[in-house]
Amino acid sequence: MILMGPPGAGKGTQAKLLETHFQVRHISSGDLLRMAVKKKTPLGIQAKRYMDRGELVPDEVVLGTIEECVRQDGSGKGFILDGFPRTVPQADALCALLHGMGAQVDDVTSIQVPREDLVKRLSGRRTCRECGTMYHVIFDPPRNAGICNKCNGELYQRDDDQEDTIIARLEVYDRQTTPVLNQYRERGLLREVEGVGSPEQVLERILDQVHKHG
Ligand code: AP5
Repeated sequence: MILMGPPGAGKGTQAKLLETHFQVRHISSGDLLRMAVKKKTPLGIQAKRYMDRGELVPDEVVLGTIEECVRQDGSGKGFILDGFPRTVPQADALCALLHGMGAQVDDVTSIQVPREDLVKRLSGRRTCRECGTMYHVIFDPPRNAGICNKCNGELYQRDDDQEDTIIARLEVYDRQTTPVLNQYRERGLLREVEGVGSPEQVLERILDQVHKHG
């Protein structure tokens, strides 16, 4: 299953809920890249320049990371991709990779949220440095400001969640990822889901679509 949608649509939030619901692995290209940046690996150093500007990391850099992760998944139960593919070459590479493994994309869900809400969601997002749990300063605040409810870790604001970079990321989505959505729509794989409401309400809508289309 692929989760698509602009920055802040709630892909990461829904991917975590779906991971628990279906007991399948969630693979986030953004999380993999941020991990590489944190560890200062050669890939992370290369990726950081692009991420800080809100631009996409070059396809060849992302493809290697995703391929390694997908191949490592030996469960045979499938997985949920969040943030990948984001360009037509990435979608083509995914198709070839899955084909080689005797697998296929079953479902592409695009989460839709009005643009003004996306900016509010992203500028208020806070993430735990230790366990990765996400909060929002207004919509889902932690019990104690700046501290994770689950592990007492420090909450931080992502470098790319500054307003200028958010606008750049939204433009990049329109320009480079919309053609991928169009491609999946033409292939009859795309389901569009309204992303406004509580995360649980959005999850219900996604599950309804999945069950409706088998
Ligand atoms: P990535 O990490 O993938 O970021 P993104 O696509 O910009 O998406 P976000 O993580 O910002 O948002 P989301 O939709 O997951 O929303 P979330 O659930 O967090 O990519 C970051 C960068 O890495 C890219 O800019 C690029 O440079 C690089 N990159 C990654 N993948 C790449 C690729 N394939 N190719 C090339 N480069 C790549 O929610 C956001 C906030 O909203 C949270 O605070 C949350 O609590 C809140 N929220 C969630 N749901 C709701 C709700 N229903 N109601 C109210 N608030 C909500």
